[in-house]
Amino acid sequence: MKIAASFLSCRKIVEGIERLSQTDVELLHVDVVDGKFVKGRKIPFRILKKIYKYTSKRLDVHLMVQKPKKYIKAFSTMNTERITIHIEVEKDLEKNLQLIRNYGIQCGLAINPKTELEKVYPYFNQIDSILIMAAEPGYGGQPFLPETEEKIKKLKAEIKKRKKDITITVDCGINQETIQKVREADIIVSGSFITKEENFQKQIDLLRKGFEKEKPEPKERKEEKKKEKPTKEKKTTTKEKKKGRNFSSKEPFKDEKPENIEKQNTKIEKKKTEKTEYKNTKIEKEKMEKKEKKDGKKEPKSKKER
Ligand code: DX5
Ligand code: ZN
Repeated sequence: MKIAASFLSCRKIVEGIERLSQTDVELLHVDVVDGKFVKGRKIPFRILKKIYKYTSKRLDVHLMVQKPKKYIKAFSTMNTERITIHIEVEKDLEKNLQLIRNYGIQCGLAINPKTELEKVYPYFNQIDSILIMAAEPGYGGQPFLPETEEKIKKLKAEIKKRKKDITITVDCGINQETIQKVREADIIVSGSFITKEENFQKQIDLLRKGFEKEKPEPKERKEEKKKEKPTKEKKTTTKEKKKGRNFSSKEPFKDEKPENIEKQNTKIEKKKTEKTEYKNTKIEKEKMEKKEKKDGKKEPKSKKER
């Protein structure tokens, strides 16, 4: 999951862009409103035209405008990763999609909450992504529409069925809780949840945590877990400590599973005992020989004596 941060709700736009650029979001989401296709918050285009001055993040451009052509051209030279236009703007739709592609930029179609999802299906061959609006376009800070959850699942299934390489983005009303409802999406756009607080990065971390929360485990991992035998926790020996290894950790080293170490230790113990026994016998033998020699030396003497 990638995060594209929107600065539409920031009171001070330039400052918002600069501060978002200091975070670890993957993309900067640029909302363009013309007041014709939708009423809403308009960010002066003279600022957007110079956005490269304030950020080095890749741009995810969302055109909520009736005549996208001029904006497509302008953003084509601005470190833009993707340009999304609305399916509701029917005039020159295919032409504009092609124009975006001609610039070598990913092209996306956005769909409003009230527009039927099926309307995007005929464009599957001409687009890289679909952006699902989880609220009416124009403003940030609106509540997430619950029907979005089903819509995303349906779209995901359709893309899979047709074996297409199309990503899904969800925009509007994304926060720590609603993000859990849009797990099927590849990119999430979040604005006010991030920018309403002083610490942007902290909010972004909360989003990522929210996405991870209650994430269903992949099937394979579950089965692996079943197979794994519970192993007793072992105290770390000084030797192991020196080596910087901790065998009491739940995760065994690749080739050094606790049971193997146990076996190895028994082997070492056995060898040690054998060695000591051998040593003792050797010492005993040597002692005996010495004694015999001594006695032998004494013998002739005693013979003499005799
Ligand atoms: C709304 C815009 C969104 C908006 C998201 O028309 O397209 O990108 O800024 O903001 P939040 O996350 O506050 O809904
Ligand atoms: Zn947007």
